[in-house]
Amino acid sequence: MRNVIVTGATGFVGKTLVETIRQRFGADCEVIALGSNQADLSKKDETFEWFERTQWTFDCDHIIHLAALYKAGDWPVKHQATQFYVNMSINVNLLEAWRRFFPKAKMTSILSYCMYPSHSEPHPETEVYGTEPEDYLFAYAFTKKAMLIGQRAYAREHGLAATSVILPTVFGPGDSFAENSHVVGALIGKFVRAARVGLPTVEVWGDGTQEREFLYVGDAADGIIAAALHSNHDVLNLGTGAAYSVGHIAHQIQKAAGFAGEMTFNMNRFVGVKRRVLDVSKMRDELGWVAPTSIDDGLTKTVRWHEAQLDGA
Ligand SMILES: NC(=O)c1ccc[n+]([C@@H]2O[C@H](COP(=O)([O-])OP(=O)(O)OC[C@H]3O[C@@H](n4cnc5c(N)ncnc54)[C@H](OP(=O)(O)O)[C@@H]3O)[C@@H](O)[C@H]2O)c1
Repeated sequence: MRNVIVTGATGFVGKTLVETIRQRFGADCEVIALGSNQADLSKKDETFEWFERTQWTFDCDHIIHLAALYKAGDWPVKHQATQFYVNMSINVNLLEAWRRFFPKAKMTSILSYCMYPSHSEPHPETEVYGTEPEDYLFAYAFTKKAMLIGQRAYAREHGLAATSVILPTVFGPGDSFAENSHVVGALIGKFVRAARVGLPTVEVWGDGTQEREFLYVGDAADGIIAAALHSNHDVLNLGTGAAYSVGHIAHQIQKAAGFAGEMTFNMNRFVGVKRRVLDVSKMRDELGWVAPTSIDDGLTKTVRWHEAQLDGA
């Protein structure tokens, strides 16, 4: 990895990825951390102008594509057309800019396990096609599938190099800790606030039995780099292959945050599918990569990070 463009570099996963690439490859590698303030990738002219300008001074060997419009909670339910339009535009503009301006660069795009159908068994990569995602994520999930199809088409017609990874739910330092965030960030925010101000209860959405796979953000960055460097597959699941219940996560966070009050469960809140977990056997066979951080260590580190952030450290 010498000269890398990271799209979505101002976001949660992107920031950690850029930091990790810089630490790992040092002065031998230049990273352009692209955010929407430099180029709104949903706008074709802006995208092409930025890439055209950049090609004269930057001999790019990797593009890692994370830019996407997505928000947690019920936002996807209410903004399906917005998500479809913006994310399709980002993806098609980026694919064409790649071919026109950086055809020697390998494209690694980041997809999400919400692409998979709604059942509880581990999802192998063979389920990407011929299956339908959950109804409320339909539009977003299909923009991710479209990216995969686009990469394959550009690779075949123009001889470009590409791979994609499918991530589970990512958590860790830098996440959003607001109440309407992804489940881990939202719970850490609630428990840490409650422990600090001495609230008697913390509410967990759902009955606590819904299960998800969680990947620590530093491990996600590490795995993305491994895939960018070594994977020649169209698509690889990249995760731990283990599912944990929201109840388990909440108890670990409660302990780490030192919250002495009571945990309550609100069954009326929207919580999505019952269980979602990746089959990571292909990743292990092909990349030999295993996520180094255990769930409990990752949660404790994230709680400590958020506490330090509140203390202004
Ligand atoms: N977080 C997860 O749990 C998770 C799980 C599975 C997959 N993923 C995938 O990982 C990627 C990154 O996720 P994240 O959680 O880091 O997202 P995030 O924090 O919401 O960041 C999104 C990034 O996309 C950029 N972006 C959005 N619209 C753009 C536009 N029109 N033009 C250019 N850039 C634009 C944002 O730029 P600005 O901030 O500068 O506007 C930001 O850097 C996404 O593709 C997501 O699907 C994430």
